[in-house]
Amino acid sequence: MDQGGDEEGDCRLDLAIGPPHHGSGSAGEVHGCCRPGRRQGRWASTFTGMDGDGSEAQRLAIVARVLESPPAVHPSAPNGKVWRTDRRCYEFMASQVRPGSRTLETGAGVSTVLFTAWGCRHIAVVPSPAEEMIIREYCAEMDFDTSLLTFDLRPSELALPGMTELGELDLMFIDGAHSFPMPIIDWFYGAGHLRKGGVVVFDDLPLPAVSTFLNSFVERDDRWQQIGSSPKWRAYRRLSEGSLAEHEFQQPFFQGDQPNVRTRAIRILKDLVPLSIRQELARSESSSRRHRSQP
Ligand SMILES: C[S@@+](CC[C@H](N)C(=O)[O-])C[C@H]1O[C@@H](n2cnc3c(N)ncnc32)[C@H](O)[C@@H]1O
Repeated sequence: MDQGGDEEGDCRLDLAIGPPHHGSGSAGEVHGCCRPGRRQGRWASTFTGMDGDGSEAQRLAIVARVLESPPAVHPSAPNGKVWRTDRRCYEFMASQVRPGSRTLETGAGVSTVLFTAWGCRHIAVVPSPAEEMIIREYCAEMDFDTSLLTFDLRPSELALPGMTELGELDLMFIDGAHSFPMPIIDWFYGAGHLRKGGVVVFDDLPLPAVSTFLNSFVERDDRWQQIGSSPKWRAYRRLSEGSLAEHEFQQPFFQGDQPNVRTRAIRILKDLVPLSIRQELARSESSSRRHRSQP
């Protein structure tokens, strides 16, 4: 777990179920995503303009700034502030979005603040009006523009199936309920809106409802290309498009035996090696294979 001191596990929060609530802004024109904060001495020197330049460097600076003093969204978290993922996961997502990117997450917290501050057209699906209030107050305090942020205050398993008019998404972050089969429901109804080339990020791999699904299905489906990971989170680029509903004959990779214990153990060990090193190894292995096959 990263410096937030939060621990792995399900979030046990007081989940008030309420009607969908839409924030002040709906997706529309892209605004400058942040302005110099009231309390932030270093802020002005970090960015090039009043509203920032929308660059990856700026998004990374926002990650650093928010993690320095994160919002207290989840008072029941072990650190008394927030359940959150690794810094590297946020930095990875910062590399995948731009101002105006269409993003969706299940759950809320640091990630919601970041998508907002990065200027994404963002929807957070979380059944907690209290979390929405804390996040909005924090964004106001930090002078992050929330006009492109929308909350849906229903549990994701109720909200997502009805979001038929969502349009195409650029990125989805799945970090809501972590019991079986909730991450699969989020993936099916949410990631089905990802455009071809869009990205889905799963948090909390140590929880079986996440890892079992990823290792038994997604890893075997070459329409999902792994593009980032740690032992805590994993990201895939979608190489297909449209609904994820299909027939079993469209899933030949899912026939036969499930990966055995040895294969699963290798996968866990592989996740410990940074993706860039794995890609480099794969490249040199394929070039030496080519070399060997030459007469
Ligand atoms: C691990 S926390 C999210 C952390 C956040 N992504 C971050 O980076 O700080 C899990 C979140 O899931 C929410 N949650 C729990 N059950 C949910 C459900 N059925 N649908 C959507 N969100 C849910 C909790 O209220 C909490 O905000």
